[in-house]
Amino acid sequence: MPDSVIERILTTATYAPSAHNLQPWRFAIVAPASAGRERLAHALTSAMRRDMTAEGAPAAEIESRVARSLKRLNEAPVIIVLCRDVTAVREHKREDEIMSIQSVANAATYLLLAAHAEGLGGNWICWTLYAQEETRQALGLPETWEPQAMVFIGYADEEPKEKVVKPLNEIVEQV
Ligand SMILES: Cc1cc2nc3c(=O)[nH]c(=O)nc-3n(C[C@H](O)[C@H](O)[C@H](O)COP(=O)(O)O)c2cc1C
Repeated sequence: MPDSVIERILTTATYAPSAHNLQPWRFAIVAPASAGRERLAHALTSAMRRDMTAEGAPAAEIESRVARSLKRLNEAPVIIVLCRDVTAVREHKREDEIMSIQSVANAATYLLLAAHAEGLGGNWICWTLYAQEETRQALGLPETWEPQAMVFIGYADEEPKEKVVKPLNEIVEQV
C-alpha cells in the first residue's frame, strides 16, 4: 500500500470533530514484517495468554485463540494503532476523559471511511485495550500515548456480507 494512501487516510482522520477541538488522537503506523510488528505481536499474545490463564481458560482454547489472533495480526498489510494523548484534556475529570476517548473514536471512524473511499477494507480491533502499557512499550510510544485500538487496513480479497442492521423502530424513540 503506497505511503501516499496512508497519509491521505490519516489526514482525513485528523479532520474529525473533537471535544474542545483538542484533537487528542495519535497514530502509530506498524508496517508488515517489521521489528515493531514482531514486538507488538509478542506483547499482545503474552497479555492474551496471561489474561486467559487468569480467567481459567483451558490451555487448548488459549492456544487456538492466540494462533487465530496472531494470524490476523501478522497478515494485516498495515496496522494503525490508535492512541489518545492523555494530556489532551481540558481537565482530568471523568466527563472530559470520556469526551477525549469519544474524540479518538471519531477519528477512527473517519479513518475507516477514508480507507473505504480509497478502495480499502478496514477492521477495528480492540486487542490493545487489554494491553495498553505493553503496546506502548513494545512500540516505543511516548508515555502520554494511551493505545485505544488498532485498525487493520488492506485491499480486501472478499466482499463483505450484507449487513443486518437494527430497524429504526427498535432504536429510535419519538419523545
Ligand atoms: C469499539 C469496537 C471494537 C471492535 N473490536 C473488534 C475486535 O476486537 N475484533 C474484530 O474482529 N472486530 C472488532 N470490531 C469490529 C466490529 O465487530 C464490527 O464493526 C461489527 O461487527 C459490524 O461489522 P461491520 O463494521 O463490518 O459493519 C470492533 C468495532 C468497534 C467499534
